[in-house]
Amino acid sequence: MSFRYQQLASELQQQIEQGQYACGERLPGVRELAKRRALSVSTVVAGYRQLEAEGYLQANSRSGYVVKARYQPPPLSSAPLQHAAAPSAVSSQHMALTLSKAAADPAYMRLGAAVPAAEYLPQHALQKALQQVIKAQPARLMCYEASRGATELRREIARRMALHGAVVSPQDVIITNGCQEALMLSLKAVTRPGDVVVIESPAFYGLLQALEAAGLKALALPTDAQNGIDPDALEQALTQWPVKACVLIANYSNPLGSLMPDQHKKRIAALLAEHGIALIEDDTYGDLGFNGQRPASCLALAPKQDIFYCSTFSKTLSPDLRLGWVIAPKHTAKLEYLKFISNISTAALPQLAVAKLLQSGRFERHLRQVRPLYQAAVQRISSSIGRLFPAGTRVSQPQGGFVLWVELPQGVDGYLLAQQALAEKISIAPGAIFSPTPLSGSARYSNFIRLNCAVAQDARLERALQTLAQLCLRQLTP
Ligand SMILES: Cc1ncc(COP(=O)(O)O)c(C=O)c1O
Repeated sequence: MSFRYQQLASELQQQIEQGQYACGERLPGVRELAKRRALSVSTVVAGYRQLEAEGYLQANSRSGYVVKARYQPPPLSSAPLQHAAAPSAVSSQHMALTLSKAAADPAYMRLGAAVPAAEYLPQHALQKALQQVIKAQPARLMCYEASRGATELRREIARRMALHGAVVSPQDVIITNGCQEALMLSLKAVTRPGDVVVIESPAFYGLLQALEAAGLKALALPTDAQNGIDPDALEQALTQWPVKACVLIANYSNPLGSLMPDQHKKRIAALLAEHGIALIEDDTYGDLGFNGQRPASCLALAPKQDIFYCSTFSKTLSPDLRLGWVIAPKHTAKLEYLKFISNISTAALPQLAVAKLLQSGRFERHLRQVRPLYQAAVQRISSSIGRLFPAGTRVSQPQGGFVLWVELPQGVDGYLLAQQALAEKISIAPGAIFSPTPLSGSARYSNFIRLNCAVAQDARLERALQTLAQLCLRQLTP
C-alpha cells in the first residue's frame, strides 16, 4: 500500500510523461493543489519533493515547482558545412501538394504543412477589421487595387520595418499574394531559366517549387542547425559556379529554425555584392523569435546591397489572407511590372484590414501573445519526441518559428513514414522534399521529417505522436 503523497507523485508523473505538463511549465502551487485535491499541504510538498528527487521537477524559488527538461532529445548532429553538391535541376514537388491538401482538411492531424491552427491566430480582431473595411470602404472593393498594393498597407509596412532598422520608402513596398509570390517575383527579376541559385540545405520546399516553376538550378549549401550557412562555404561556391542569386532564411529558417549571427549576415551580403549577385532574403519567421527580440534582417544590416526582402502575414495573422510583400529598392519598377503581368494585383480587402491591425497596435499585441505559445508548443512536442521516439532520434532546437526538424534513426524512411501516417490521418513532411530532387537516388534527408508544432496541444496530438513513434519502430523491426 502506498502513501497518499506517493499516489499523488505517481499521478503527476503520468501527467508529465503524457505531455500534459511541458518542460519548463509550472505545476500548480502547493496550497492550490492541496485545496483542489483535498490533501494536506505537507502531503503535496512530499509528493513534489519525491518528483524532484526522481528528476521530474525542479524547485524554483520564484515560480514554485517546474517540469525539468528531462526528456529533451539530443540535438541534431552538425553537418559538414564546406561542400555543396553540384547545381541540380529541381523536380518532383508532388508530395508538397499532398501536404497542402491535408493542411486544409480537418480530418487530418496537421503536422505536415507549416500552417498555424486557428487558435494561434487573432481570428476575432481580423474578422472585425475585415467587417469594418467592408462597411466603411465598399467602393474600394469594387475595382482593381493598384498592382504595387494599397497605399495604407505599404505605409504601415514601411513604418514597421523602420522600427526594426530597415529604413525603406513605402514607394518601394510591393504587395504580393503571400511570400511565395514575393519569392517568385524576386527570382524572375534576376534570373533566366537554367540559371544557378544558391539555397540552404535542407531547403524550404515552397522555394524549391518556385525554382522548379522558373526552370532554375539549385546549388544547395549545407546549413548549420544553429547558425545557418557558412560564409566561407558560400565564398567557395561563388568562385566555383556561375551563381545568379542566393536565397536565404537568415532568421529562424524553415525547417531548421537556425538564426544566422549578424556578422555572418553582413559578410554574406558583402560577399554577394562583390560578385554582383542579388540576395533574396525570406524573413517569414523574423517576428516569431522566442526571446521576444526581433533579429535584424540582412536588409537592415546592409541597406546599400542588392537585396530583395520578402515576408508575409501568413504565419502571424492568417495564411488565407494571401498577403506578403517584397522590397528591393533597386528593382521596384521591375517588380511592379512583374506583379502586374502575373496577376494584376492583390485583393484590397485583406490589405486594408491588415493595415488597420498594424495601425491600431493590435498586430504587435498579437505577436507578444503568440510567441510564447509557439515556444511552448515546440518544447512540448520536442519533449514528447524524446519520450516516445526510438533511441537515436535527434531534434532541432529552433530559436523561433514553430517547426521541428527531426532526424530519425538510420533505417527509418521518412517518405514511407509520411505515407503510412497519411493512412492514419496524420500528415507530416518527409525530409526528402526539402531536397531539390526528392524522388531521385541523390535525395537527401531520407531519414528526416519536419513537424508543424502550431497545433492544438491536446490528447489527439499525443496519440498522433505515439502513432508516429510506433510506425518508426515498426520500420526498424526486422
Ligand atoms: C520560409 C517560408 N517562406 C515562404 C512561405 C510562403 O508563405 P506564404 O503563405 O506567405 O506564401 C512559407 C510558408 O510556409 C515559409 O515557411
